[in-house]
Amino acid sequence: MRRAVFYFFVFLLSSPCFAAYLPPATGKSSMVVTPQHLATNVGVAILKNGGNAVDAAVAIGYALAVVHPCCGNIGGGGFMLLHRSNGENIFLDFREVAPSSISSKLYLSHNGTVNPKKSRYGYLAVGIPGTVLGLNTALKRYGTMSLKQVMRPAIRLAEKGFILQAGDIKILNKGVKFFKKQKSTTKTFLNQGKPYQASERLKQPELAKTLKAISKKGSDVFYRGWIANAIVKDSQAHGGVLTLKDFENYRVQTRNTISCQYRGYTVITTSPPSSGVILCEMLNILGTYPLGQLGYHSASSTNYNLEAMRYAFADRNRYLGDPDFVLNPAHALLSKEHAANIRKRIIPNKAGNSSQLNAPKISTQMNGNTTNYEVVDQQGNAVSLTYTLNSLFGSKMMASNTGFFLNNELDDFTIKLNAKNKFKLQQGKNNLIEPNKRPLSSMSPTMIFTNKKLFMSLGAAGGPTIITTILQTIEHVIDDQMNINAALNSPRYHMQWIPDITYMEPYCFSTDTLRILKGMGYRFKEGSSWGSRYWGHGAAILIDPKTNQIYGANDNRYPAGLAKGF
Ligand code: DON
Repeated sequence: MRRAVFYFFVFLLSSPCFAAYLPPATGKSSMVVTPQHLATNVGVAILKNGGNAVDAAVAIGYALAVVHPCCGNIGGGGFMLLHRSNGENIFLDFREVAPSSISSKLYLSHNGTVNPKKSRYGYLAVGIPGTVLGLNTALKRYGTMSLKQVMRPAIRLAEKGFILQAGDIKILNKGVKFFKKQKSTTKTFLNQGKPYQASERLKQPELAKTLKAISKKGSDVFYRGWIANAIVKDSQAHGGVLTLKDFENYRVQTRNTISCQYRGYTVITTSPPSSGVILCEMLNILGTYPLGQLGYHSASSTNYNLEAMRYAFADRNRYLGDPDFVLNPAHALLSKEHAANIRKRIIPNKAGNSSQLNAPKISTQMNGNTTNYEVVDQQGNAVSLTYTLNSLFGSKMMASNTGFFLNNELDDFTIKLNAKNKFKLQQGKNNLIEPNKRPLSSMSPTMIFTNKKLFMSLGAAGGPTIITTILQTIEHVIDDQMNINAALNSPRYHMQWIPDITYMEPYCFSTDTLRILKGMGYRFKEGSSWGSRYWGHGAAILIDPKTNQIYGANDNRYPAGLAKGF
């Protein structure tokens, strides 16, 4: 008895205490997590009406375009990872494409340096949007409902409006300066010239008209009809180079998924132009270190993580690009030898040096403000979907009468070698801007399986921190034995090779852990590479393999979001 009491106290002392985190949402058969509660409700209603995960994901995609206008979108693009109940895993790539007459010269100032304003704001930043064709293709191939059925809730939310909550206002307030600059945005996103307040109703009649047209006429009205015409006309009037031909030529691509093993779990994620390869590369490097034993956010586990991030990001930024244009050495980057060669170069208790990184050689001949949401349905289908306008409200451009923002995704390209983008990513020649090419992305919707059964489905927003957010959430669940809500909401750190700095969210490390890490040679900066203190919204679902109970976690960094199961 005394021994049992002793072990009980040892257990209490050794088990991490997560009293600060709310428990995750629970469900018996289904779960939806999105960054806006009304969009979550749309997904839940579709599932309750007999729709599958794809029906719900498409309905949510359109609903977020209304209730999460900074980031949910029809003017951007993204990636869908689908796990079907028959065991198939499918990756649909609906990333934006550069217009056919793009050239890096368009972005240069007189002195030959990249003018970041051009690649981040206005029509030169805009890639041909892929979301509409992506969502509609997914629905046609894998859904069970009609486009009209799944778009109805979004149209209603745009037409009748919805009540803004504090979380929505926090995001809208970041766009006010830009809303004042265009008639189309002033009309929609300002309330008689003033910023909206919580409890007020936001109606979007122009967006409702656009959504109705898509629901009636399908993708053609967006890529060949009046919507394409309106965007091209506005682009021409504002120094852009978008053409009707570019819209007509837009295609969704079905690509291979990437897989790797982590401590007995199978990880399935997305191939280039996504960065799933880099997530797997990090997991391959880290899989042999006893991270769980080393301890949550301990100096030594952080040391291994930061070095894995450094080497993997150096590979990302050097080698990856649109697979329709360049050979991505995915197999080489994912090989056990490559991970082992990197581990040989990692010196315990010592920070590496990004500018003199002795990265292992690989054979390059081998083949090889974003929104994430997750849906698991009654039949065992799951969707992990990340789509983006890039920055909050994208390029800030809204063609008249369309009611939606256009992306600034072209800033994700290497505009010029050695120039850094908005996220301070210094990328390589494989990602150089070219006509009809897709920019490399960090978006990496991911699923984890145990004994072929879905265990986790997750993804995130936040530019390059997407990859390290997914990595840390996986580790916190598998190595640190946290519940999914605690794992997703833990403070995060991030390193991306260049700049040679570790970004961290507030309260990430204790003072003495920081002291030890600084002693190893790490330099820290609180906040992200693009200035925000906290970074991207993550969403995650976990299915307990023993009980089949489904857990959903929304990221408190986006309090307007919601995880809801049934
Ligand atoms: O595709 C990418 O990697 C970026 N355009 C994602 C941007 C992003 O996540 C911004 N969100 N917070």
